[in-house]
Amino acid sequence: MGHYFDEQPGAPSMPRDVELRLPDMTLTLATDRGVFGYGQIDAGSKLLLLKAPAPPPRGILLDLGCGVGTLTIPLARRAPDATVWAVDVNGRARDLCAANAAANKVTNVHVVLPDEVPDDLRFDCIWSNPPIRIGKPALHDMLALWLARLTPDGYAVMVVHKHLGADSLQRWLDESGYPTTRSSSSSGYRVLLSRSAGRVDLDP
Ligand SMILES: C[S@@+](CC[C@H](N)C(=O)[O-])C[C@H]1O[C@@H](n2cnc3c(N)ncnc32)[C@H](O)[C@@H]1O
Repeated sequence: MGHYFDEQPGAPSMPRDVELRLPDMTLTLATDRGVFGYGQIDAGSKLLLLKAPAPPPRGILLDLGCGVGTLTIPLARRAPDATVWAVDVNGRARDLCAANAAANKVTNVHVVLPDEVPDDLRFDCIWSNPPIRIGKPALHDMLALWLARLTPDGYAVMVVHKHLGADSLQRWLDESGYPTTRSSSSSGYRVLLSRSAGRVDLDP
């Protein structure tokens, strides 16, 4: 059976549009088989979109594990003068994210493989509905890699379900030097706010 984090999903393509309704925008997003959130908006992603602090208006932002762009496109719309990097290992997801950005007239997004992000870029803000199902060691490696690239004032907003280890992830983030608070929770989903290792007193 395939996974949503496969590099090239084997499931035959069967595109399906979904509507993402938010207080500040309504978007139509193309989804497909083999990609996270096929035919629906994930409730955790929706919660993050409703609860995340307004992103920095300028600077360099990251959607870590962009999927079809459910977080990427609102992030880019809410920070039109910022540059948003959207990374995913799943090629079908990247194609959909880029197509959805274009269809929704968003031009400040680069959709790339994780390895294609220039090494010297540092992020003012990271949004992620992280791929818990890749397993804890791989998840920790991935988060350690990208959180280390926050600017001193930077922060990350992540959404994780409590049944998928939100509370232990919060502890691990704290212990790894990224002070983390639960900024909201609903229906078992936790929105976690992690500060850059370089700064602990920021209120974004
Ligand atoms: C839970 S989904 C979230 C997708 C999208 N952001 C959303 O909210 O609907 C996590 C995404 O992370 C991607 N992913 C898995 N491993 C990754 C890695 N090492 N680096 C970047 N993305 C990864 C998966 O392919 C998947 O699309």
